[in-house]
Amino acid sequence: MLLLNPGPVNLTERVRRSLLQDDLCHRESEFYDLQSEARERLLATHDLDPKAWAAVLMTASGTAAVESMVAALVPERGCVLIVENGVYGERIAQICARYRVPHERVIGSWMEAPDLDAIAARLDAGAAAGRFTHLAVVHHETTTGRLNDLAGLSQLCRVRGVQILLDGVSSFGAESIDFGDSSLDAVAATANKCLHGVPGAAFVIVRRSALTRAVSRTFYLDLARLAALQDQRGTPFTPAVHAYYALVEALKEFADEGGRAARYARYAALAEQVRTGLASQGIETLLPPAVSSVVLRAYRLPRGVDYPTLHDSLKAKGFVIYAGQGDLSKTLFRISTMGNLNAADMDRLVDCFRQWQPRAQSAPSG
Ligand SMILES: Cc1ncc(COP(=O)(O)O)c(C=O)c1O
Repeated sequence: MLLLNPGPVNLTERVRRSLLQDDLCHRESEFYDLQSEARERLLATHDLDPKAWAAVLMTASGTAAVESMVAALVPERGCVLIVENGVYGERIAQICARYRVPHERVIGSWMEAPDLDAIAARLDAGAAAGRFTHLAVVHHETTTGRLNDLAGLSQLCRVRGVQILLDGVSSFGAESIDFGDSSLDAVAATANKCLHGVPGAAFVIVRRSALTRAVSRTFYLDLARLAALQDQRGTPFTPAVHAYYALVEALKEFADEGGRAARYARYAALAEQVRTGLASQGIETLLPPAVSSVVLRAYRLPRGVDYPTLHDSLKAKGFVIYAGQGDLSKTLFRISTMGNLNAADMDRLVDCFRQWQPRAQSAPSG
């Protein structure tokens, strides 16, 4: 079965085989070697200096990494402005509410890019309780496939001394993230999307200077505590050892294949192949390519076909597509091109849609 959902992804045989390595006790040096290698290789994906940055691992899914990041990095007397234009931006606000992290929201339409002028005005007006210290945003809003304008937001934040907390769950490893930007404090992500590992390992790449000011609001996901213990070759809890095996192998494969730029190019080619193939059959993307990620695209359902019918028919042919979220489920479907997929797979996929092509009107007989 080919998975066109936004993670978990189809594994390569190389990563799958890595799951069959020795059983490990997580209190033995072999596990700490594995953990350290995963952390080093995560930083190496973006040539980050381990003195300035830490990769903090957790046994969890991407949401936990986002939760750990925002619960730790917004100080008690700070305030985070959350940019929302989809489900995952809304989720950051839910997390902040649950932990009573001081926050305000800029709520935009799911169909629109964040309004940079409105965000600048909100940052300048300040929070009700004082000044905004942070801005939280989803890089690739998987709800619609939109790539939010990180460079534009960074510019707003840099000149105002506001630090960015980025949900990079569905972009890290493929889309460009400028870690040289002084406004970026942390990126939360997961092993089982653009890195092609298995579910069970998530992480936050965080500036060490930000960690020194971290707050402890949660027990299990306490970012600073996890970082400190992992720096000392320790772990507070039982980690998903096999997910870490797979992460390390996936990161080796990532490097062997040319790193982030190569992964971007591969996804871009597959995403465009699907887009042009479906467009030739009258199936249009929700958003133009210029504002879309290369990771996932949202498409309008073929005329007269509902999502369950489309899903079940494609599944019978070996493809799992993904529904739209909320109200979008009635009009959209989504296709992600992450994972161990190739151009021949996408040709077959596009071919499967031909059955829904509107028939040409037959000429009247007479
Ligand atoms: C942008 C974004 N953030 C967070 C998540 C949540 O990740 P998880 O389901 O691994 O908790 C997802 C999942 O697709 C996502 O796309």
